[in-house]
Amino acid sequence: PPNPQMEESSAALKRANCRGKGGAPGFKVAILGAAGGIGQPLAMLMKMNPLVSILHLYDVVNAPGVTADISHMDTGAVVRGFLGQQQLEAALTGMDLVIIPAGVPRKPGMTRDDLFKINAGIVRTLCEGIAKSCPRAIVNLISNPVNSTVPIAAEVFKKAGTYDPNRLLGVTMLDVVRANTFVAEVLGLDPRDVDVPVVGGHAGVTILPLLSQVKPPSSFTQEETIYLTDRIQNGGTEVVEAKAGAGSATLSMAYAAVKFADACLRGLRGDAGVEECAFVASQVTELPFFASKVRLGRNGMEEVYGLGPLNEYERIGLEKAKKELGGSIEKGVSFVRS
Ligand code: NAI
Repeated sequence: PPNPQMEESSAALKRANCRGKGGAPGFKVAILGAAGGIGQPLAMLMKMNPLVSILHLYDVVNAPGVTADISHMDTGAVVRGFLGQQQLEAALTGMDLVIIPAGVPRKPGMTRDDLFKINAGIVRTLCEGIAKSCPRAIVNLISNPVNSTVPIAAEVFKKAGTYDPNRLLGVTMLDVVRANTFVAEVLGLDPRDVDVPVVGGHAGVTILPLLSQVKPPSSFTQEETIYLTDRIQNGGTEVVEAKAGAGSATLSMAYAAVKFADACLRGLRGDAGVEECAFVASQVTELPFFASKVRLGRNGMEEVYGLGPLNEYERIGLEKAKKELGGSIEKGVSFVRS
């Protein structure tokens, strides 16, 4: 890179490159959209992750500034910045994991689908770069509408001949994080002890929390079920309205993204029993993509779990979710195909 601030010291680089060869595992991670509201705290948290040896920060604006800032943190990962399309290839080459929070966020009154026009093109361009420069990387796609951007990414990879459905994961972790928090509040528990599976997709009624499968096993009144389902489905809008035009969830999203990325890296390392929810290629329903709990391993997603027993309320919710989800998936697919 031309900017000296974006160049790490050779000693640090040597250290980073040694890792993974007999020493502690070190993975190479790129964040695309690293200067944004999500990107900045996400970059900071990934710099703190001991599984990361090299961290590439790419954006079309302000990447040198964010890189210089984060590179002063005295943690192990070596940070490099990349600015603009002509540096995309260098940003991506050799990466094990690529996290994508690039694109515009919602403002009050907007649905995630309203972002399609702008974000679809951004995701297509970035995925073309991945297909060219790091086709074996695991991709964590955050850019909304996730229900359409994941199908877009899949189509781009298919066109390039690099598509591996096990390596493309739409990030729905924030729905799980919110569900754990809100359910813990109702149950009077520590959120760290609560696990709520959230399936379907990542927008409104497609977000389907399975309250009948909460761990620890819990029962809810009809009133609590309706309140919790509605709050989990509209948690994003709660933040968009509170921020009143300044964007959508960024800090909780960065936290959720790191929680999910860390699970992917632990899977890559070979840890057993790593399971999280994600929006992935799926045979759980008749739809080609669906969010459910998946097992993460050395090859990315290694198993997609079925839905398990649903109650009547969840069965009705599932039908509603599938109806909307089908259209959003189709919209993404035809964006690339036409
Ligand atoms: P932001 O506007 O603060 O940041 C977006 C960043 O992307 C900016 O730095 C911008 O320069 C960059 N960018 C734009 N075009 C780019 C390109 N072609 N290549 C690389 N970078 C590019 O937005 P924020 O708040 O960080 O949100 C980012 C995305 O994440 C939005 O689409 C938002 O809807 C989505 N999101 C997803 C969530 C999820 O649960 N999956 C939750 C919250 C937000």
